[in-house]
Amino acid sequence: MLDLLITNCALPDGRTAMSVAVSGGKITDVAPGLSAPAKETVDAKGWMLAPPFCDAHFHMDTTLTYGQPRVNESGTLLEGIAVWAELKPSLQQEDIVRRALAYCEMAIGKGLLAIRSHVDTSDARLLAVEALLEVKKRVAGVIDLQLVAFPQDGVLRSPGGADNLKKALAMGVDVVGGIPHFERTMAQGAESVKLLCEIAAAQGKMVDMHCDESDDPLSRHIETLAFETHRLGLQGRVTGSHCTSMHSMDNYYVSKLIPLIAESGVSIIANPLVNIHLQGRHDTYPKRRGMTRVPELMAAGVTVGMGHDDCMDPWYPLGTADMLEVAHLGLHVAQMTSQSGIRACFDAVTTNAAKIMHLQGYGIAPGCDASFVLLQATDVVDAIRRRANRVKVYKRGRLVAETPPALTTLHL
Ligand code: FE2
Repeated sequence: MLDLLITNCALPDGRTAMSVAVSGGKITDVAPGLSAPAKETVDAKGWMLAPPFCDAHFHMDTTLTYGQPRVNESGTLLEGIAVWAELKPSLQQEDIVRRALAYCEMAIGKGLLAIRSHVDTSDARLLAVEALLEVKKRVAGVIDLQLVAFPQDGVLRSPGGADNLKKALAMGVDVVGGIPHFERTMAQGAESVKLLCEIAAAQGKMVDMHCDESDDPLSRHIETLAFETHRLGLQGRVTGSHCTSMHSMDNYYVSKLIPLIAESGVSIIANPLVNIHLQGRHDTYPKRRGMTRVPELMAAGVTVGMGHDDCMDPWYPLGTADMLEVAHLGLHVAQMTSQSGIRACFDAVTTNAAKIMHLQGYGIAPGCDASFVLLQATDVVDAIRRRANRVKVYKRGRLVAETPPALTTLHL
């Protein structure tokens, strides 16, 4: 007797009229027209069953603080960092936990079941680290929460930056972060990349660094990150997040840079909602979009994810934990509106993000975890077009969220 049988579903790879069988929290079979006794059988009505959404770039310690202590009026990254610095001294651990759990509930409803969150390690009290480690424990049955030690004020620029970051790693944080473009000089930024990659190499950790998050066409930290990855043999374990300056870089330089990134096995994460909003703020017209070169990186074989980054905090006033919204905006900004381009943006918020996070058992195939989302859409393009309803969300075979299918009745 199966625990669960989903019948008549479409899959993201384009197959239709498929069945998915589940036992013991795992997918045991994926085939057309399966029929077997099951404790529960769900007729998917032709809608698409997709693996859960993954957000490989988020800030869960800052989420849902919008307006505290004030709003970021200029809309720039730097004013966002200043607003967060004003709030930090009054942060309470219970409040961070409460906000993070509220976001997690929002995420579960949207079928977002894996999140890599940066956590600020610049505050010597490491309150946010303690809080998010607690949240990680509490949501473990539903959300795979991976934490990145993020020295928001600069690992070299802030007093005790490296010690605080190492303490966070010792407390159980999974990934080494950084922010080289916020160090005092370009040279200090490069030194921070080297230092942080060496810490990761020594401790067997992954790396995910905010890299070149500016409009500066001469910012070169992603080049250093690729070089250090190659030098230290960290291929497949390193990610450059944002890389917005690549949008403004000289084309000749980028023609050398992208193959270097591909060669070093560095993944890239674009954050369309936040990049399009924070970047280009010093421009008049034409205004730069400020999102990294997604299709060109993908064409070179680089794994590219798209992240939500922020939700109602000093850097972004909106957001609903909806990774289809992220993919929807991302494909517009990147002009990836061909059928293959749209599908690639769906991958950026599912399989590519899962690969970046090194998630195990991810996908709709026998042997994978029975974690998936039934979308009120017939295929990947339809799902992004509609930002489709998440009709049912399952984690290892257990139903964790439901949303009634949307139905409009016209009265003409
Ligand atoms: Fe970020």
